[in-house]
Amino acid sequence: MTKIIRTVKEWKQLRKSKGLVEKRIGFVPTMGALHKGHASLIKKCVSENDVSVVSIFVNPTQFNQTEDFERYPKTLEDDLKLLEKLKVDFLFFPDYEEIYKDNFRYRIFENELSKILCGAFRLGHFEGVLTVVFKLLNIIQPDRAYFGEKDYQQYKLIEGMCKAFFFDVEIIPLSTVREADGLAMSSRNILLAKEERIYAANFPRLLMSEKSTEEIEKELNSLGFKVDYITELNGRRFGAVHIGNVRLIDNVKL
Ligand code: PAJ
Repeated sequence: MTKIIRTVKEWKQLRKSKGLVEKRIGFVPTMGALHKGHASLIKKCVSENDVSVVSIFVNPTQFNQTEDFERYPKTLEDDLKLLEKLKVDFLFFPDYEEIYKDNFRYRIFENELSKILCGAFRLGHFEGVLTVVFKLLNIIQPDRAYFGEKDYQQYKLIEGMCKAFFFDVEIIPLSTVREADGLAMSSRNILLAKEERIYAANFPRLLMSEKSTEEIEKELNSLGFKVDYITELNGRRFGAVHIGNVRLIDNVKL
């Protein structure tokens, strides 16, 4: 049975209790609408730790537009079924008030990596991400936390934050899980219309191709994507595009 915890107080008491204090705790933070990408992190977490915790919190401070936040998919019933099936011990499921008692007066900033790639197009996004992950790690106090390479920039920023602030947690990256046609799994994929979903596969196909970033960008543009960026950095190629009003990101190792 997956036990649902809604308050910080309840978890902190449990965390200090006899049953948990000496256990190795693994943690997977998510925003719900769980798919196979999340499942791969969760399976790894369950297999490597004595106790597993997944959080579901659609974090408003990391969304640039309230519209994007409001239409973010919510599938709690299915999510819970998946957590039960994967034998997750605890679901941390707080509300806004519980996480942001300070109303976001206190924030975590990073000054380099958060300014490029997605950070250049989604102002304040990584501030919201880092702040909520800082809070979640501080609440859960896990030994290990798992993040997907699908959001590579996010993973690197979180890893850097944990080092900078001396968190006692091991940050573990896992490779991107893809649909059969190569599209990286994402909670936002279900917002794509049927035809948009089919043609979205051009994005990973081109990103993984031998073509140059300029050629890829040109081809995506001519296919009707709106391209935020296609950039190579530290041996990886990163991209972000829009199809209609859905934004997709991806990255591959070169
Ligand atoms: P969310 O988009 O729900 O993703 C939760 C975790 O699942 C992240 O570490 C993400 O990189 C990973 N993930 C998503 N799609 C994946 C895929 N196709 N393959 C492998 N891993 C995948 O990322 C967030 O939530 C939030 O920003 C969060 C870290 C929870 C902070 O609010």
